[in-house]
Amino acid sequence: MSASGGPAAGRFDLGGKVALVTGGSRGLGREMVLGLAEAGADVVVVSRKLAACEEVAAQVEALGRRALAVSANVSRWDELDGLVAAAYDHFGRVDVLVNNAGMSLLYGDLAEVDEAMWDKVVGLNLKGPFRLTALVGRRMVAGGGGSIVNVSSTGSIRPMPFMLPYDAAKAGLNALTVGFAHAYGPTVRVNCIMAGPFLTDVSRAWDLEAFEREARHRHALGRGGRPEEIVGAALYFASDASSYTTGAVLRVDGGIP
Ligand SMILES: NC(=O)c1ccc[n+]([C@@H]2O[C@H](COP(=O)([O-])OP(=O)(O)OC[C@H]3O[C@@H](n4cnc5c(N)ncnc54)[C@H](OP(=O)(O)O)[C@@H]3O)[C@@H](O)[C@H]2O)c1
Repeated sequence: MSASGGPAAGRFDLGGKVALVTGGSRGLGREMVLGLAEAGADVVVVSRKLAACEEVAAQVEALGRRALAVSANVSRWDELDGLVAAAYDHFGRVDVLVNNAGMSLLYGDLAEVDEAMWDKVVGLNLKGPFRLTALVGRRMVAGGGGSIVNVSSTGSIRPMPFMLPYDAAKAGLNALTVGFAHAYGPTVRVNCIMAGPFLTDVSRAWDLEAFEREARHRHALGRGGRPEEIVGAALYFASDASSYTTGAVLRVDGGIP
């Protein structure tokens, strides 16, 4: 049971656990890092920029947890072995893996998407999570348990022409969620947060006025998500609160019809 409350709070307790969060330096990843740490976890914070990860790691330590900042491009399989080795060398275990790092690219016409753009988007949103899940999931099974949380997008079920490579990669991530749940169950659970529009750095590329108009009229909650509003779903999947849930894809999108 956590220090903060009764049995309900205890189900979300991550005391003594180690979490690894890709894209943990900003946006939704940073919020999940801090939420996991508040729930008791030590955290490995990963992104390409070490200094940004170190800043978030210092915030984790300020919460009284241990933290490790690691720079890695998680779309590159040759960098994932080093990342996994760094995490296990430092903490000896990983109990929670959050495959959060992701991005899309801007283009005009679909025919303008060249092979390098395709490879970059599919590499980060699908190819990297596949390999990292295989590397860490196998160790979790050997270690007796774990929880893997993927972050996909509502674009995966509502693909749009201006984000098609990204939406297709995220649909693949939904599929990986189900397949890995079977591969590593019953020891390890694998679930997915299907995120809707959150007001992180990526929203700087949006026409915010048009978005807000659309959200007000069509989305059940009438607005974009605040980054910290991802944390509840992440804690649910990371912890024993979701002990009978695996292979699930949960929409956290403010009620897009
Ligand atoms: N915000 C939304 O509206 C929204 C909607 C649906 C789904 N999502 C998904 O939610 C996740 C987080 O999105 P966000 O809005 O928080 O994005 P963000 O603010 O742009 O943050 C992205 C994070 O990923 C890291 N990153 C980017 N490329 C990387 C790479 N190749 N290797 C390792 N780390 C990398 C970034 O750090 P560095 O630059 O230092 O590498 C940063 O920490 C993504 O998977 C995204 O697709 C977001």
